[in-house]
Amino acid sequence: MSKMKETRAPMTTLRLLLLGSVVLLSGVAAKDPSLIIKPVQPRQMKPIGSSLILNCQPDVDQPEYITNLKWLDPQNRTIDQTSTAGAHVTTTFTSDNNLGLVITGLTEADVGTYTCTATYSNSEYLAHSVVVDSFDDITWVDAPTEQYPIAGTSYKVRCKVKANPAPLVEWYRADTKIQDGNRFVKEYDGLVIQNVTAEDDGIYKCRAIVLDTGNIKDRDIRVEVHIPPTFAADQVSQLELVEGDMASVQCAANGKPEPKITWIHMPEQRDLSEGSERFSVNKITGVLTLNKISRSDNGKFKCVASNAAGTIERLVNVVVLIKPEILEVTNISEPINTEARMRCSANGNPLPSIVFRRVGTDVVIKTGIEDYRVSVEHDTVRDVATATLVIKHLNRTDDGLYTCMASNKGGSSMKNGHLTVQFPPVYASNMVKEVWTWNAKPVNLSCVSESLPNASITWLLNNRIVEDDMNVKKFGKGPYSDLLVTPVDQRYYGVYTCFTKNIHGENNAYITLREAHRPSRVSQAKFEVVTATTISFSFVGPTDTGGIKIKAYAVQYKELTQSWDEARNKSWPVDTPYILEGLSAQRTYHFRFAAINEVGTSDWGVVEQRVMPRRSAPEEPKILVTKDVYTEDYINSPYGNSYEVNWKIPADNGEPIDRYNVIYCVIEKINTVWTQKRESCRTEDLKSPDKTSLLMENLNADTFYKVEVRAHNDIGYSVPSELVFKTAMGADIPLQPAYSNRLSSSVIISIVLAVLFTILVVIDVSCYFVNNTGILFILFGWCCRKKKRDEDTKLGSLYGWRFPLPYCNNSIGESSSNGNGSSYTSDVEKVPLPDMNFVFEGKELLTNGNTYQSSNMRIEPTETLNKKDTEVEYDVRRSVSQTRFVGKDSAV
Ligand SMILES: *[C@@H]1O[C@H](CO)[C@@H](O)[C@H](O)[C@H]1NC(C)=O
Ligand SMILES: *[C@@H]1O[C@H](CO)[C@@H](O)[C@H](O)[C@H]1NC(C)=O
Ligand SMILES: *[C@@H]1O[C@H](CO)[C@@H](O)[C@H](O)[C@H]1NC(C)=O
Ligand SMILES: *[C@@H]1O[C@H](CO)[C@@H](O)[C@H](O)[C@H]1NC(C)=O
Repeated sequence: MSKMKETRAPMTTLRLLLLGSVVLLSGVAAKDPSLIIKPVQPRQMKPIGSSLILNCQPDVDQPEYITNLKWLDPQNRTIDQTSTAGAHVTTTFTSDNNLGLVITGLTEADVGTYTCTATYSNSEYLAHSVVVDSFDDITWVDAPTEQYPIAGTSYKVRCKVKANPAPLVEWYRADTKIQDGNRFVKEYDGLVIQNVTAEDDGIYKCRAIVLDTGNIKDRDIRVEVHIPPTFAADQVSQLELVEGDMASVQCAANGKPEPKITWIHMPEQRDLSEGSERFSVNKITGVLTLNKISRSDNGKFKCVASNAAGTIERLVNVVVLIKPEILEVTNISEPINTEARMRCSANGNPLPSIVFRRVGTDVVIKTGIEDYRVSVEHDTVRDVATATLVIKHLNRTDDGLYTCMASNKGGSSMKNGHLTVQFPPVYASNMVKEVWTWNAKPVNLSCVSESLPNASITWLLNNRIVEDDMNVKKFGKGPYSDLLVTPVDQRYYGVYTCFTKNIHGENNAYITLREAHRPSRVSQAKFEVVTATTISFSFVGPTDTGGIKIKAYAVQYKELTQSWDEARNKSWPVDTPYILEGLSAQRTYHFRFAAINEVGTSDWGVVEQRVMPRRSAPEEPKILVTKDVYTEDYINSPYGNSYEVNWKIPADNGEPIDRYNVIYCVIEKINTVWTQKRESCRTEDLKSPDKTSLLMENLNADTFYKVEVRAHNDIGYSVPSELVFKTAMGADIPLQPAYSNRLSSSVIISIVLAVLFTILVVIDVSCYFVNNTGILFILFGWCCRKKKRDEDTKLGSLYGWRFPLPYCNNSIGESSSNGNGSSYTSDVEKVPLPDMNFVFEGKELLTNGNTYQSSNMRIEPTETLNKKDTEVEYDVRRSVSQTRFVGKDSAV
């Protein structure tokens, strides 16, 4: 209240008045000199470490009389103005006669009463004290701003605060005050969170309050819950790796923060995470990669996963599989009938199992299964497995290569060993036991012995060693030996002994050296096929070949009237066609035969006499067909519009073949009988006798054809060779070119009809004049039926086989009447025709009669089709019966 009055007094007088009253009221003389310390509070509370200044100001009327102004410390020592450097309590004049006490970095030791003293007017001692006190500010003693509780545990979020006076501590999370209780317990040095979970992550605020000083301080503490590592489920703990391979194994762990993985190879206590040539570790994914796995990697590997919250580890047991290696297979060589032991040793991890097989078979040899003599013994010494193949009572067949195979999980390997069975000499089964020679001709006796080891060979004759004889020469001592013998006299013929010997035994082989001689007479010579100019023979060999093979047969032949001195000779090597050519028809010959071997020619056999047949038309030119295209009674042509017919050159029966005639017609099978479409027939004459094939073109597809081939010589036509074939489906293109190139088919038909009509007229006229037959003759009379048959023959040769002849031939009715259902041959025999030309015509009548029997077909499958151009084959198989015709006909 007095202060208020003081400050409000507006005037000096009033002020002075009031001042006097204030002085009166306060009981202090207004003019008393004193010292004022500012700030004026008698007690100065300052936090430790802070700095302060206390200004001492004399309050006197005449400040110039102030002397000795100074500060005393709590121990009443004068504080120097210029105290030593570093002192933190000093004084300083703040103005002329104001002295400040400066304390920098207040410490506990600085606390106490500081006094400012001065002398006024040299007499009056002035003093004023102030108490400097300290207090502790709020300090964070233990309150880290980042804290990591571990999940599952109880954790105290530390916030230890020091302050003097003691502070209050409050907790906030996300601006919400945390209440005691529940999972939170406030303690003096922190906040306990019970059973920490990941949700407890966050910023926690620790607030310290000192009510005395009004101080308040906040600290944000980041709480991040750590989760100790755990291994992921389903991780391998056992691993089999193959030596030399590459492999990787993962060790995955979860946790917060992300655990780091290290791998340790336990046997070496080596941390693989550093990486090396063979190992690398991905610390994040936990994958351990092993390059080129070595057997030293065998053992336990430890996976360690660690993060701030903890460390865990687990073991992986690595087994390095080592592919077996065969260390040794023994090659053995044992005598027959003894016991053989083939040993095979191998290593590997795990220890391999060993089996034996015979090279070339897949059969694993097992004790006594296949063969009671065979067994397999197994043994293991340290890290080597051994198997022994034991074969008792060795046979020669046991000799050979055996495969030893060792296998384990890591793989397998194999190696062959040889078992050699030694045996005493035996002789090759194909050894020649009889040797022939003659005329002191040197000859080799050959001895081949099989034995192991090789046997030596000694030659004996009549139980005496002959090797030194001058007429004997030995080549080779064994296991092969040839004895070249020159049998200069009879003593060298006889039984030779080839004596062989080795360490296991000895053996004898007997080889007889015989003297060869000429063969005996030919037992029999058969006349197989006889034509007008050729004969083919077969021989029954001599009873005695002379000890060696017959090389050839010889014939000597002459005409009846000639002497044997004029005879001609021919010989044939054995197994060639024995054909004699160049004979004359209708002549009588004498033949005699002999066999020939290396030594010489046999005596001539008995003389055979033969009359050669008269010349006749050629034999049937057999149509050649390959076996594979033959079906039922016809051939399938591979083409729709063509077929090539091939035939064999037949025997010409004494006159050279000058041409072939080929007729082909469309036929149909009606009620199992082939019926010919006469108008479809086409005829080709092949003037060249060397030609043995004809390509029939422009045929209809999917159609049956019958083809007939006849050979011709001066005497006439042969029996036809016949074949039915069927063209392939489709590709029926043959007639088109004919249209475009030439005349239309209707024009052709018209022309053909016109020509035929003209020919008919001409023939009819001819018949009238020559034969007295035909339409004209019918009109003019019936004399034609009385004509003679030899005139027929003349006409036949005049007109050849063409059809006008049968038309005006008497035999027409006869032929057609017995044509149906009877074979061609019987036709020929029944119809009294004079020669083969007529035979052919008789056949023609049959074909005109539109009937064929499939039994007439003669299909001769053969593989010699391709050879037809290079060799001329005589087909004389049927010539005997043919000859019979000729004889019969000629008799007529
Ligand atoms: C066994 O014989 C084989 C050939 O038959 C040969 O390759 C191998 O080296 C021989 N083994 C020994 C140990 O002589
Ligand atoms: C006999 O055999 C030897 C060798 O084995 C050979 O040199 C010789 O030419 C043969 N002699 C005859 C006549 O085969
Ligand atoms: C045994 O004979 C064979 C064949 O002549 C020959 O290859 C081999 O070297 C011989 N062996 C011995 C040991 O003479
Ligand atoms: C036929 O052979 C005999 C001996 O076998 C011989 O004397 C004769 O001169 C030969 N004749 C001809 C024509 O070659």
